[in-house]
Amino acid sequence: IGGSDMYRQQILDHYKNPRNFGEIEDATFTHVGENPMCGDTIEMDVVLDDDEEVIERVAFRGDGCAISQASASMLSEQLTGMPVEDLEEMDRDDVIDMLGVDISPMRVKCAVLAEKVAQDGAEIYFGEKNVDKTTTEDDE
Ligand code: FES
Ligand code: FES
Repeated sequence: IGGSDMYRQQILDHYKNPRNFGEIEDATFTHVGENPMCGDTIEMDVVLDDDEEVIERVAFRGDGCAISQASASMLSEQLTGMPVEDLEEMDRDDVIDMLGVDISPMRVKCAVLAEKVAQDGAEIYFGEKNVDKTTTEDDE
């Protein structure tokens, strides 16, 4: 991992002591994603507030390299309290900024795995909700 010592330490710390590692049983949505380069997966539970506008809690589990695990751990902290809109707008540069180290092109998929899981999960959740609404209207 390139970059400053401080950020390197932070990544190792998140890797060794991942925050929000585990499971939330009554999550609003759960999504699992795979890094196609290595087959490692991360599964994430997300709890939204009653208006479904703000992320209240996040938990993740799965295996992967230090970068993917640290990224998931750091992201889980960043997502807590974040408007869903902001999650939808996150991109890989935001993730790399969050990590604060140089990520080689080979490692970018590791770095963004958790962010993709959260984003895809939200997209599917809200997408399905729209589908459900349409179905309900059609049924009436
Ligand atoms: Fe950087 Fe393993 S060497 S993630
Ligand atoms: Fe599998 Fe990084 S090597 S997630």
